[in-house]
Amino acid sequence: MITVRTVAEARAWALARRAAGTSVALVPTMGALHAGHLSLLRHARRASGAVVLSVFVNPTQFGPGEDFARYPRDPERDGALAAEAGADLFFAPSVEEMYPGGTEVMVDVGRLGAVWEGAARPGHFRGVATVVAKLLHATMPDVAVFGQKDAQQVVVVRHLVAALLWPVRILCAPTVRAEDGLALSSRNAYLEAGERAAAPALAAAIAAGAAAVAAGERRPTAVEAVVAEALAREPRLRPDYVAAVDAARLERPPLLQGRVLLLAAARAGRTRLLDNACLEVGPDACRAALP
Ligand code: PAJ
Repeated sequence: MITVRTVAEARAWALARRAAGTSVALVPTMGALHAGHLSLLRHARRASGAVVLSVFVNPTQFGPGEDFARYPRDPERDGALAAEAGADLFFAPSVEEMYPGGTEVMVDVGRLGAVWEGAARPGHFRGVATVVAKLLHATMPDVAVFGQKDAQQVVVVRHLVAALLWPVRILCAPTVRAEDGLALSSRNAYLEAGERAAAPALAAAIAAGAAAVAAGERRPTAVEAVVAEALAREPRLRPDYVAAVDAARLERPPLLQGRVLLLAAARAGRTRLLDNACLEVGPDACRAALP
């Protein structure tokens, strides 16, 4: 595995692979790698001949009071894990390298970036869309792999590349969970013991909502109420939002049908937890949907 820190080096490496007829996959991350990130690398490996892992803690997607400064950073461990998981190029640029013109030019993704997680974290998806655009330009991939864990992020990125006529395929890989159901996240490192014990209640509440849909419930607000009631049984979690929405537009339909996302966010102490389920809802059947 080669490590590079400049856009010029990353681009030259990717263009050389493409010129040799090898497809390139990008896995963008903010580091503090865990098994969820490594599963994206394995998906990238299957999809492409050459795999780039980027590690960049992107300042523009953090709000003023958020955790940019204390976000976990461990480049040495990340490098070792990435090499072991089969990354070919480790791209770890500095803020100056990624924002040479400052933050005057930013990518606005409109309504999809303003609802749900975007409403809770104003400006977040503007920062995500901007850095993803930069990372795609820097590494010129054929494919970029994202995690279902951040379902709205996948919707926003697909919207971004479709709107900008970008010739890159966006793949979505399933959420990797701890044995007790908690979705893996770099931010789980912040959780104190009691918070960690409470955290799986978020996934369990979403599963209760999915079970209600499987049992025939089609009213989004009724499904949201099932999730909210299940969450309320864990007093150490403070719910933020619960949404049963169509997976393309993230809007609450009159009745759930087709591909549906159950989105939920909650706080455990100072830590925000985020999770979702993706369902395929037919007229009388419901099953977990493949991303
Ligand atoms: P980060 O939180 O580091 O996540 C990097 C990628 O890993 C994202 O696509 C995310 O959805 C995926 N991921 C995180 N936890 C996962 C899990 N438990 N199972 C499967 N995939 C998981 O998301 C970001 O960074 C940033 O917003 C980024 C896209 C890099 C832009 O800065």
